[in-house]
Amino acid sequence: MARVRVRQHVNPLSHKYQTAANPIEWEKVYTKLNQPLHLDIGCARGRFIVQMAPLQPDWNFLGLEIRKPLVEEANTTRDELNLGNLHYLFCNANNSLKPLLSTLPAGVLQRVSIQFPDPWFKNRHAKRRVVQPELVTELAQYMAPSGIVFLQSDIEFVALEMRARFLENPAFKIQGNSEWLTENPLPVPTEREIATQNKGEPVYRVVFEKT
Ligand SMILES: C[S@@+](CC[C@H](N)C(=O)[O-])C[C@H]1O[C@@H](n2cnc3c(N)ncnc32)[C@H](O)[C@@H]1O
Repeated sequence: MARVRVRQHVNPLSHKYQTAANPIEWEKVYTKLNQPLHLDIGCARGRFIVQMAPLQPDWNFLGLEIRKPLVEEANTTRDELNLGNLHYLFCNANNSLKPLLSTLPAGVLQRVSIQFPDPWFKNRHAKRRVVQPELVTELAQYMAPSGIVFLQSDIEFVALEMRARFLENPAFKIQGNSEWLTENPLPVPTEREIATQNKGEPVYRVVFEKT
């Protein structure tokens, strides 16, 4: 599979990423719109959901990614594979959830994954991180009761911050105790997860449930 070349990071606060995604005509996107939806935020090349979609044909999958060439490439692959339950969208997840999620049929958003989001290590870059309180509030608004949020990172302070932001929102409760999960509950590892594990480095994982 050809790999389009892209910048490693883009700044989600820069002017060109301040326009929210346009609402989608979902019935033109998914063959069966009323299936449960899995939203993968920061999907990069989309390799995780392109494997999930044929494994779970009774779910729809939506990947959001801020690097446009990756989205174009992923949708081309989706077309070649003829998958009617998979779609990728170029957008800044931090300003586009509302126009996208508010137009979905009620109750379909049942699973969200945020996996290895860009760490933006420096304190002065904290606002560039994906899991902001506003994003958690929007997920709380649109997720179905008992919906699942899966978070993982190879950077402990990023994982702790993501976990804290879901813990402080009363719409979510953590599954299990406060220990990190040792196993990925989903059947497909992401590209970053595989690379981390191949280096023998730890992965910090947690699951929340929408109450
Ligand atoms: C380190 S990569 C991880 C990709 C994949 N989830 C994995 O685990 O292999 C993080 C991805 O999130 C994307 N991203 C970061 N901020 C974003 C935002 N605000 N909206 C959408 N995508 C974003 C980045 O462009 C990048 O592709």
